[in-house]
Amino acid sequence: MGSSTIGILGTGSYAPEKILTNADLSAIVDTSDEWIFTRTGIRERHIAGDNETTSLMAAAAGRAALVDAGLTPADIDLIIVATMTPDHPMPATACFVQNHLGVSSHAACFDLNAACSGFLYALDTAWAMLGSGRYRHALVIGAEKMSTVLDWTDRTTCVLFGDGAGAVVLGPSRGTAEILGAKLYAEGTHARLLWIPNGGSNAPVPAPGTHFPPRTLTMKGREIFKIAVREMEDAAREILEQHQMSAANIACVIPHQANLRIIDVIAQSLELPLERFFVNLERYGNTSAASIPLALDEARRSGRIKPGDTTLFVAFGAGLTYGSALVRW
Ligand SMILES: CC(C)(COP(=O)(O)OP(=O)(O)OC[C@H]1O[C@@H](n2cnc3c(N)ncnc32)[C@H](O)[C@@H]1OP(=O)(O)O)[C@@H](O)C(=O)NCCC(=O)NCCS
Repeated sequence: MGSSTIGILGTGSYAPEKILTNADLSAIVDTSDEWIFTRTGIRERHIAGDNETTSLMAAAAGRAALVDAGLTPADIDLIIVATMTPDHPMPATACFVQNHLGVSSHAACFDLNAACSGFLYALDTAWAMLGSGRYRHALVIGAEKMSTVLDWTDRTTCVLFGDGAGAVVLGPSRGTAEILGAKLYAEGTHARLLWIPNGGSNAPVPAPGTHFPPRTLTMKGREIFKIAVREMEDAAREILEQHQMSAANIACVIPHQANLRIIDVIAQSLELPLERFFVNLERYGNTSAASIPLALDEARRSGRIKPGDTTLFVAFGAGLTYGSALVRW
């Protein structure tokens, strides 16, 4: 466990202006609002413009989180961007974010890829780094331009995801919003259930004059559904046990926003009413690493989180990675 004196000092989020509804999607692939909504709970998602990069969205969310924390870019000495859709294979998107925000060259900046669990991985990493005493204030951002890795002819995947960013500022706790714990996991045996086969160093080099195959995501949805439920349940139960809490102690669960049916099954198994879960996926779809910080920011700004509340974050994603974290506000 890391230091118990690190807290969330501010939150921020950003979603692109353009909205793609289920009806809009039914003009692109053979689908319907009825199918998408009943299977997933999603009504619409935000889609970034051509020039709206992951780093620009990340910076917008980061800027909002800094304002919320009452800090300036000069206070930041660590930026971690959780993303599976970086601006470029290299350098890290976090370095572009540093530039957009004007954060000093004394800051450490790097990306972290744990797909949809990325924010929790980045949170735990930053918590440990700050807990070491060698860094003081971190910007922890989840940002994704999922629209660039979707096959827009594949109705089984393109209806599920959206673009956006969410951020938190971590620093010495001001007596509130303390991180109580975090636990990360991965089951690499399932790495190929949800992946982007091409675009990395393991993709075959194309013959001269031909192109690389498209860098798009493929998924075995049914298998993922079952494993996701088990993993999120396990991650939630273990962290509660570790902290001698029961689900009843949790005022608000902020789950990864992939599918309302998955959240519903977890609510039942934890014996919590669905109202205890903050859900905004009907307006965003699955924004991968951005989903928890985006939901957290909305939950805070809408008054859903009160001083003294304990919140549980729980996520799963490609890898298959999963994890959980507890914060007392
Ligand atoms: C993807 C998911 C919504 C599919 O729901 P499902 O109930 O498992 O549906 P299936 O894949 O069994 O497909 C059922 C039928 O709907 C069809 N279908 C799939 N996508 C469709 C769409 N967008 N519109 C209309 N029909 C669709 C299928 O072709 C299939 O038709 P068939 O019975 O004629 O073969 C669901 O499996 C899921 O959410 N899995 C988890 C995925 C996830 O969260 N991934 C992100 C991880 S971070």
